[in-house]
Amino acid sequence: MCSGSFAKCLGITLIPLSLACVLCNILLFFPGGTSVDSENITDEVWYFGGILGSGVLMIFPALVFLGLKNNDCCGCCGNESCGRRFAMLSSLLFAAVGVLGGGYSVIISVLAINYGPRCLVVIEGTEQWGTPFLDGSYLSNTSLWSECLKPDGVVSWHLSLFSVLLVMGVIQVALCAVQVVNGLLGALCGDCCSIFMCVGFCLGDLV
Ligand SMILES: *[C@@H]1O[C@H](CO)[C@@H](O)[C@H](O)[C@H]1NC(C)=O
Repeated sequence: MCSGSFAKCLGITLIPLSLACVLCNILLFFPGGTSVDSENITDEVWYFGGILGSGVLMIFPALVFLGLKNNDCCGCCGNESCGRRFAMLSSLLFAAVGVLGGGYSVIISVLAINYGPRCLVVIEGTEQWGTPFLDGSYLSNTSLWSECLKPDGVVSWHLSLFSVLLVMGVIQVALCAVQVVNGLLGALCGDCCSIFMCVGFCLGDLV
């Protein structure tokens, strides 16, 4: 049951990552921990990278990977491992969904980090809401951050939450990509092909 156990480990890891991404995306709707008019929330927050990409879309691969260990559909052709192999093969489809979802969140996060937050700035002598850092210069020059008058701490809020989303999205994509390999091995050669991968991650299942 080697590649199945490994897939289960991947699924178990994906779930807390997804929940954390949803939480980050929700927090981003409250820049600097305050509530602002919806038109003053940074555009990229509305693209729901964390909620849809890393959250909802990741539920499907996570649950499928979790169940692979026990999934033998009906033991097709009276051959037990045959059904399991088919389940492994179909997990590739869900791994692809996970790569797309996580990849979407990664792309949105990179854009958001580059464009910076929406905040209250002084433009030609009047205070108004804008996106002052579209060229990404704030990343290398923190003295620019004070151009954002309100909400307090909006720049670090934006940068840290989107950075967390970026890192977790990359990890999700990597885990799903690993399941592509694991699922292929499981489908082609049966359970023990990926035993080397299992040793590190699922010692409990081996003893
Ligand atoms: C950072 O931005 C400030 C304010 O615009 C500017 O005076 C300063 O020269 C910049 N520093 C660097 C290293 O670019």
